Amino acid sequence: MKKILIVYYSRTGTTKKVAETLQKQFNCDIEEIISAKNRDGFMGYLLCGREATLKNLPKIESNIKNPENYDLIILGTPVWGWNISSPIRTYLARNKSKFKNIAAFCAMGHDGDRQSFREIEKICGKKLIAKVGIKTKNARKENLEEQLEKFILLCDKFIKGEAEEKKPIENHYSKTENIISIDDFSKIQIRIGKILSAEKINGADKLLKLKVNFGGEERQILAGIAQYYNPEDLVNKECPFVYNLAPRTMRGLESQGMILCPSGENGPVLLHPDKEIQPGSMVK
Ligand SMILES: Cc1cc2nc3c(=O)[nH]c(=O)nc-3n(C[C@H](O)[C@H](O)[C@H](O)COP(=O)(O)O)c2cc1C
Repeated sequence: MKKILIVYYSRTGTTKKVAETLQKQFNCDIEEIISAKNRDGFMGYLLCGREATLKNLPKIESNIKNPENYDLIILGTPVWGWNISSPIRTYLARNKSKFKNIAAFCAMGHDGDRQSFREIEKICGKKLIAKVGIKTKNARKENLEEQLEKFILLCDKFIKGEAEEKKPIENHYSKTENIISIDDFSKIQIRIGKILSAEKINGADKLLKLKVNFGGEERQILAGIAQYYNPEDLVNKECPFVYNLAPRTMRGLESQGMILCPSGENGPVLLHPDKEIQPGSMVK
């Protein structure tokens, strides 16, 4: 069974109430962060607001429980100035490298929970496995457990090992050979050409001689598709061609480009634009 620790700071008791409700559900360890400063009353409110805005790291009493000994740390904080409270910020700064997995809840007057969750994820460099924001007035209601149901369910799944492990995204590039940069790619000009005529070449069973229109220009292009396509079927077809390939001579004929097509199991398959397009259009 995975071990959970709830760590929270509460100035006026709302976060504490949520933390204790969760603790009953999970029957897990719990630790309250104690601020070294007095934060009572109006002056306390101003102090909290200032620290939250400036992202200060005020003194807190040392924590007793070591987060390294837990599989999941559930963090609880009041929202201060649309962000996390400063004592929680200090706790995160001290312990962020010790967390294996994190979930979080916020107590708030109206909003600021999403920004607070983002801040926690940013500081810890980890995605929260579950998050919930509870409004102060709702925390007082009888149905607090119900409000926490989804959060509890997600944490439960994690405890039972059903939650998807946060695997690193598989890097398909590692399996791809000959990676090229965008600069390399941009050197290749691919254009749509309209085939005006196609004919067999004497003595070359594989090659067809194509006349291709690229808008203002007509080119001769040799294509190794003679065994798979009848010349008459190609006339008026639009296909992509490599347009800036150096010319080369085959069977005494110059080829001024190259037709692009995938190789299927039964030979090459021509590609055509989905809609009619001006010959010469660039493929990007
Ligand atoms: C300095 C300060 C700033 C606050 N800023 C926000 C805020 O930006 N958004 C919000 O919804 N509530 C804000 N609140 C209200 C608290 O988040 C809310 O009362 C919360 O329930 C308090 O939790 P606690 O009782 O655990 O301290 C702020 C409270 C304080 C003290």
